[in-house]
Amino acid sequence: MTTTVLLDCDPGHDDAIALLLALASPEIELLGITTVAGNQTLEKTTANALKILEFAGRTEIPVAAGSARPLVREPFVAAYVHGESGMDGPDLPSPRTAPVPEHAVDFLAARLLGSDRPVTLVPTGPLTNIALLLIRYPEIAGRIERIVLMGGAIAEGNVTPAAEFNIWADPEAAARVFTSGIDVTMIGLDVTHKALFRPADSERLAATGRVGKLVSELFAFYQQFHSQQYGWDGSPVHDAVAVAHVVRPGLVQTAHRGVVVDCGGELSRGRTYVDLWGRAGWEPNAHVGVDIDAQGFVDFLVERLASLG
Ligand code: RIB
Ligand code: CA
Repeated sequence: MTTTVLLDCDPGHDDAIALLLALASPEIELLGITTVAGNQTLEKTTANALKILEFAGRTEIPVAAGSARPLVREPFVAAYVHGESGMDGPDLPSPRTAPVPEHAVDFLAARLLGSDRPVTLVPTGPLTNIALLLIRYPEIAGRIERIVLMGGAIAEGNVTPAAEFNIWADPEAAARVFTSGIDVTMIGLDVTHKALFRPADSERLAATGRVGKLVSELFAFYQQFHSQQYGWDGSPVHDAVAVAHVVRPGLVQTAHRGVVVDCGGELSRGRTYVDLWGRAGWEPNAHVGVDIDAQGFVDFLVERLASLG
């Protein structure tokens, strides 16, 4: 059984690996890619998405560029994690292909309205494009089967002690998504930080072919941040966990809980308050990742990426 997917991303090392995983998964029919500013500027995240599709020989998949900035907050790029290009490490040529002329929001609406099958949105960056889609096309919510997003955290954040980057970057957009009434799954740091991709996994993958070698080069750069910041011997491939959850839902355990996004001041900005124990009595509005089969995820990721040759 295939799942029809639209991937909204801000490549980004882990977005790039998530995209490759989607391309390697016959269970996914990838209708298109949309890009958003986040890890880097929109120009760079869009170029990076095009580079990955060209590298994988999948330029038939359309890319539409979206919002160059959050709804309200000032743009902030995570060059300290992903480098100046947003995908530092591998030496990939500038893209020969171009994004489609439509804005990502109009592209998403057209794909959703034109699909004769239910569509799953997989956002792996700030939720600006998704919020704009819901605002510009109010009726579109009924055409979205579910949203499986990478973002948020029950516990600690990563861009501040309170907040995870994708939600922190555009909390107003995230609040719009979490209050949309759409079936939302939140793949947060609580599960992605448990499933580290390690040097041994990278070496294993590098020996399998050119895609594996590319991923090992992405990992080599990306691991520098996680080693320095956390002292970890591996890196969380956050966005690939969201894609893996679509393909193999048994890897991540979720709990249906009420989630509220803090759109307030600086310290609490972007916090995802999860009513994990029901103390607040909030109506459940998201399936929140609470645990993960870490080795199962890593083995699945390596196996699928190796299949691309
Ligand atoms: O906090 C991790 C998330 O922020 C990932 O999606 C990463 O790519 C960045 O977008
Ligand atoms: Ca991302």
